Amino acid sequence: MNRKDDHIKFALAQSTTRNDFDKVRLTHHAFPEINLGDVNLTTALFDRTFPYPFYVNAMTGGSDQAGKLNQRFARLAKYFQIPMATGSITAAIKDPSLLKTFSVIRDIYPEGFVIANIGAGHPVANAIKAINLLKANALQIHVNAVQEIVMPEGDKDFQGWLSSIEAIRQGIQVPLIVKEVGFGMSAKTFSQLTAIGVRYVDVAGKGGTNFSKIENNRRQQTLTSFDDWGQSTIESLLAAKPFTKLQIIASGGIRQPLDVIKSLVLGAKMVGLSGYFLHLMNQHTDEEAIVMIKAFVEELRLIMLLLGKTTIASLPTAEFTFTP
Ligand code: FNR
Repeated sequence: MNRKDDHIKFALAQSTTRNDFDKVRLTHHAFPEINLGDVNLTTALFDRTFPYPFYVNAMTGGSDQAGKLNQRFARLAKYFQIPMATGSITAAIKDPSLLKTFSVIRDIYPEGFVIANIGAGHPVANAIKAINLLKANALQIHVNAVQEIVMPEGDKDFQGWLSSIEAIRQGIQVPLIVKEVGFGMSAKTFSQLTAIGVRYVDVAGKGGTNFSKIENNRRQQTLTSFDDWGQSTIESLLAAKPFTKLQIIASGGIRQPLDVIKSLVLGAKMVGLSGYFLHLMNQHTDEEAIVMIKAFVEELRLIMLLLGKTTIASLPTAEFTFTP
């Protein structure tokens, strides 16, 4: 079976019940003193504004099934006018016959904020190719050492990632986002990214889709050391706080509207969801998914009402406790 189809199958077999978002509690105050009608979800990032503080994060492309899913994700993203990231385009750079499974996103969502995605260690030319293939508005580079280690056919040479990222940042005309794939980031990582001039970072922490378990599902003999590896999204967000030059995107284990708001309170500018949208589309028709995301948005507004916050930008002033 195609690796992309394996990833979809094994990601769908996972379900996230509890994670570190449950250990964060937003402080309740009895006097919100605002009106629901004044709550505004408009979110600023990449010198743009978006209607909501969340988007469809990187998943797929590169197989028939992946192309069909991208078509459905793109329709949903278009309906809500939210950004959408593709899965890694590396396969289509090597084999142009796969390109349409990615470009379908741009066909459906020509006006959209579309984010192309490639792995780490690529030359600048590949990054430019990935951007051009999708007329992408931004580029994600995923840093996935844990996944590569567990992946049966994975790369085991991680030299030169930082210098390649720096060269790509200097060589492209769109914003660059460096993202993990579900193992989170440390203060050292944020410091290294700051030093090479990266501005946008998606922490993609532990707590949701687990790529060690996915790749172990694809191995004859499992590697047991990595299934609980890494920092949770909450731990990563707390570690990112001192790095004020970085614009932080939260992702990894976002299960519900409350997790989105908690991420924003902890300092994220925007929130990415992958597994959530994959399960949503697997279990529901496009029409049902739209109804559910409308309810999701309404719940975001109700949480903000209770917090007494009318804008997304004011959420980091809300109080919280974290009990590890
Ligand atoms: C992913 N993810 C991913 N990330 C990436 O940067 N490039 C990729 O090609 C993929 N592929 C992919 C396939 C599938 C089926 C899933 C579910 C996920 C990782 C994803 O963007 C995200 O970082 C993790 O899934 C953690 O977030 P969630 O799923 O817990 O919201």
